[in-house]
Order: sequence, then C-alpha cells, then structure tokens
Amino acid sequence: MSYIAEYKLKKCLDCGTCREIVACSGKENGCIGCGACALACPNQAIDMIEEPRDREVTIEIDGQSIRVPERISVKEALIEAGWAISEAPNKPDFFAPCQVGGCWSCAIEIDNQVRPACITPVREGMKIKTELPKEYIPKRIVQGFVGQKESVNLTLKFRFAFLITDLNSGAVSPIPLTLR
Ligand code: SF4
Ligand code: SF4
Ligand code: FES
Repeated sequence: MSYIAEYKLKKCLDCGTCREIVACSGKENGCIGCGACALACPNQAIDMIEEPRDREVTIEIDGQSIRVPERISVKEALIEAGWAISEAPNKPDFFAPCQVGGCWSCAIEIDNQVRPACITPVREGMKIKTELPKEYIPKRIVQGFVGQKESVNLTLKFRFAFLITDLNSGAVSPIPLTLR
C-alpha cells in the first residue's frame, strides 16, 4: 500500500515539529508515506491517506527481483513481497515495532548499508538483504513499551512509549507514539 501525508492547515499550530524534529525521508524526492510526521504532530494536523503511485521501480530482495510502487518505504516493499510485519518479535515475521524510524529494530542491509526499513525509500536497482551482516553491532535495544488508554470525545486514544537503550552511551529514552 502507498500513502502520502496530507496537512490540515486549519489544525496546524505551526510548532515546527514535523519540519525540524522529524527526520523526513521524503525531502529529496517527495513523501514516501512513512507516517513519522503524523505520529509526531501534537495536534493531529496530518493525515496519512492512500495514494497510488504512477510508476514502479525494480528492486532485489534476497536475490529475488520484484517490481514495487515508487516512493514507498523498504518496509512497504517487503509487504509487497509477501512479508508479514509484526510489532512484537515474532519470527518469521518482520519485526518493526515503531515503524517511524525511532528504534532501528527493522534495520536490514540496504545497498550495503544497514538502514531502518520503515523510513528508507526504495529506489530503482536497490539491493536488499533481510539478514544483517554477521559483524553488525546493534545501536539500540528496544526493551519494551508502556501504554495508556484514554477516551477523548468518545474516541479511544492509546499512548505508548517504547523504551530505547543507546548502546554507545547507555542512555535510556522513550519514543512516544499516539494511536487513535
Ligand atoms: S507538527 Fe503538526 S502542528 Fe506542528 S507544524 Fe507540523 S503539522 Fe503543524
Ligand atoms: S515524515 Fe514520512 S509521511 Fe511525513 S512527509 Fe516525510 S516521508 Fe511523508
Ligand atoms: S520499526 Fe523501523 S525504526 Fe522502528
């Protein structure tokens, strides 16, 4: 499935979060529909809507060629190739708990570099290996998440925070998520 971020200007507080804090993967070639900005927006001023792509690109996943829509994330390309995505470590599914570039649990080898699949855009000729190189040392560990449920205007709202440990500094930090 391919998505695009749609900004609702009437709800925008011009706080700058989506421009200055979110590492948007669509700055060069346009939105890839990763959803990071929508989750970060404090006033639900960004909707993710389905948008079919006009063109396709050919990529290689574990040596198999596949054509996928242009301007989607590698995670979406894996779904196109038949992978199931799981928010819990649940082999053989592909583990992607935050899906917005925060935890690096979805990191795989993309064009000889380890990159998070959920925010890396596909490109023509891209070569993807779903196994990490043996010598790769993870940068972060997802320890789990805490959650909270509340009712806002009769809509259930869930707040989660993944706890991430940076293996270089030892610092533990939460990645907030709000789901409605
Ligand atoms: S994060 Fe939301 S409220 Fe802030 S500038 Fe972006 S769209 Fe506007
Ligand atoms: S953060 Fe993701 S969804 Fe938002 S504009 Fe950038 S690429 Fe699109
Ligand atoms: S699932 Fe991709 S960075 Fe967290």
